[in-house]
Amino acid sequence: MNILVTGGAGYIGTHTCIALLEAGYSVIVADNLSNSKRESLEKIKTITNKEVLFYEIDVTNTQAVEEIFQQNSIDGVIHFAGLKSVGESVEKPFMYYQNNLVCTLVLINACLKYDVRRFVFSSSATVYGGNHVPFVETMNFSQTSNPYGETKAMCERILTDITNANPSFTVTLLRYFNPVGAHNSGLIGEAPNGIPNNLMPYVTQVAKGKQEYLNIFGNDYPTIDGTGVRDYIHVMDLAEGHVAALNTVTAGVHIYNLGTGQGTSVLQLIKIFEEVNGIVIRFKITDRRQGDIASCFADVSKARKELDWIAKRDLETMCKDAWRFEQNYNHQVM
Ligand code: NAD
Ligand code: UFG
Repeated sequence: MNILVTGGAGYIGTHTCIALLEAGYSVIVADNLSNSKRESLEKIKTITNKEVLFYEIDVTNTQAVEEIFQQNSIDGVIHFAGLKSVGESVEKPFMYYQNNLVCTLVLINACLKYDVRRFVFSSSATVYGGNHVPFVETMNFSQTSNPYGETKAMCERILTDITNANPSFTVTLLRYFNPVGAHNSGLIGEAPNGIPNNLMPYVTQVAKGKQEYLNIFGNDYPTIDGTGVRDYIHVMDLAEGHVAALNTVTAGVHIYNLGTGQGTSVLQLIKIFEEVNGIVIRFKITDRRQGDIASCFADVSKARKELDWIAKRDLETMCKDAWRFEQNYNHQVM
């Protein structure tokens, strides 16, 4: 089966391409390389010994997307392509709505036109907003706290409406918690441009000496030690969740949390990172970051039951794999 992976050169996309190839799928990647590098696709070949077909296109370009559907027999789409920085979305909301909504609309249009009925969408735990943890798929949400989150909520609604009007369409909305870590080869991983926004890449850059110390955003939250609690999931577990979603879905809209179900504080994560890698992480406590919530973790029982999927890799593995990749990665070259 041929799966079109938009955003397949990015962090989660590359790991998912590996999981798909290992599960026997053929992979076609569409990416404009706005936040990724062509070299990542070559690494996929090194790891799997299999080729992916690559189209360097912008997924907002209807004609370019339709050409992929004309030239290939596509059986399903996994749609990762999108902009993902919460802070940037507050500064440049138009860019976020334009890119993230138009990509999704263009792909839906192509799927309907070329009778491709399987669609898997990258959503986010951010849609749960101010609900109480653990977050359950049935929870209602009205407004998320930033334009990025709004694009995810809007795409979920668009895909739901389209499926209601086209009952043979199969849509899986995967709400990711906090993906971290890297493929255990150390060849691919998370390599953000500039100063990292997210915790794990910041920690690995402190470990490498690229950043002097970590700023911990607040230690006065109502959590175990006052620092923010998140549900960190190994990116390969997340990738395998996509394969499970493709393998098992039936017509209609299906929503799944992809997390571990376990909350970990910033200080707890640092401690595990230090212990497994034998490195001290310098940090300073600073003010809370605007828009952050105290705790975010998943109820994962639905994915376990219906997808027969569960995250297997522990926090120790996440910290080891993230550090292995950082040590291999040359920020100047790639
Ligand atoms: P990423 O930035 O590494 O990957 C996204 C890829 O999409 C990049 O390769 C980028 O070049 C490409 N892209 C963006 N706009 C495009 C366009 N118009 N046309 C073609 N390609 C385009 O991000 P990621 O962490 O791999 O995230 C993948 C998806 O998962 C995103 O939709 C993101 O919002 C979602 N998500 C990520 C997280 C996370 O913490 N990483 C959490 C929840 C949801
Ligand atoms: N944190 C720090 N210092 C840093 C970075 C983060 O203390 O330098 C803290 C945050 O305050 C938070 C925790 O580490 O308590 C995790 O922060 P991240 O930025 O790594 O992740 P978020 O939970 O804020 O957000 C991520 C993605 C969002 C996505 C969300 C839910 O960035 O896009 O997970 O999936 F919506």
